[in-house]
Amino acid sequence: MDLYEYQARDVFEKYGVPVLAGIVADTPEEVRAAAEKIGGVVVVKAQVKTGGRGKAGGVKVAKTPDEAYEAAKAILGLDIKGHVVKRVMVAQGARIAEEFYFSVLLDRANRSYLSLCSVEGGMEIEELAVERPEALARVEVNPLTGIDKAKAVEIARAAKFPEDLVEKVSDVFVKLFDVYKGEDATLVEVNPLVRTEEGDIIALDGKVTLDDNASEIRHPEHEALEDKDAADPLEAKAKESGLNYVKLDGEVGIIGNGAGLVMSTLDVVAYAGENHNGVKPANFLDIGGGASAEVMAAGLDVILGDPQVKSVFVNVFGGITACDAVANGIKGALETLGATASKPLVVRLDGNRVDEGRAILAEYAHPLVTLAATMDEGADKAAELANA
Ligand SMILES: Nc1ncnc2c1ncn2[C@@H]1O[C@H](COP(=O)(O)OP(=O)(O)O)[C@@H](O)[C@H]1O
Ligand SMILES: [Mg+2]
Repeated sequence: MDLYEYQARDVFEKYGVPVLAGIVADTPEEVRAAAEKIGGVVVVKAQVKTGGRGKAGGVKVAKTPDEAYEAAKAILGLDIKGHVVKRVMVAQGARIAEEFYFSVLLDRANRSYLSLCSVEGGMEIEELAVERPEALARVEVNPLTGIDKAKAVEIARAAKFPEDLVEKVSDVFVKLFDVYKGEDATLVEVNPLVRTEEGDIIALDGKVTLDDNASEIRHPEHEALEDKDAADPLEAKAKESGLNYVKLDGEVGIIGNGAGLVMSTLDVVAYAGENHNGVKPANFLDIGGGASAEVMAAGLDVILGDPQVKSVFVNVFGGITACDAVANGIKGALETLGATASKPLVVRLDGNRVDEGRAILAEYAHPLVTLAATMDEGADKAAELANA
């Protein structure tokens, strides 16, 4: 999960990373009040989970509360790369002397952590990496030892910080690593980290990505950071039922058991779709090993709730949960859903007790259910029905 800038700011503050005052606000009136409270020059900043807000007009300096009010009017409702601004942060204005860049992230390819750092911050890091790669220091960070003071100094020197700043910035790097480690993040990025005219080092913009795998057990408090409004409603519903669901863009709903089988089902359906007007998979949904009637019903309910879905392909390989149990699950699900189940269903069963499973569905003879003998045949039929 990515955090909003204001959430990153709060986390930074908790770990002693130097930040400026910031107050979130949802209306121009609230922004005016926040600007009055902070006093002096403020910066009104769009809170959207994408970079480049400055360039898109989502960051505005305001010298008075009235200017802040006007800035908020311009920023709220703005569309930044497909994200509509619903909330802003009113931040204390900094007198910037220099802008730097710092990040620490999970380096999957090298099974390690990596710190990126540059004295040329402010601009987008992807641009810097392409245009001036020599200005971007890359320092591997051993996950067992992390960024201690010595490592932080190494990073600051690799990025060619002037010697009189090394001490100060390296202290901040250590604290930013405390955030990374303490919150089980996969990314902590500060762009820009600034030196102010007063000589302070301050994190002016923060991006933090938390490792969702760590949230449930190690960080139950992270749930409060979730943006329930912005989440896809179908994904939220699936999550409530404990389903592993990802919404995609196509027309063929997919249900399978086991992540590997579901992934290959997506491929096979996408391939079959090429013969049927380019229809595509509508989702990833792994109902796991159980495949009980309740789980099947919950899964079907989520998928059928997607207005883009025109047909559903249920692709199950019976293992510990045998095909007859799955067939009964499908039967039970259709009965539970009643009229809600209004789209054609193609079912392919294979594996343990396949004959019994197919017999149950054949006898049930539900008008919306078509049995397929193979995965390819099922994918083709589901794609055809989606295109009908
Ligand atoms: N509190 C602040 N005070 C002064 N200038 C700021 C402040 N916050 C941001 N800025 C300026 O606006 C630029 C863009 O803001 P930033 O928060 O980095 O947004 P983004 O990266 O999405 O464009 C920064 O590089 C900095 O120059
Ligand atoms: Mg930035």
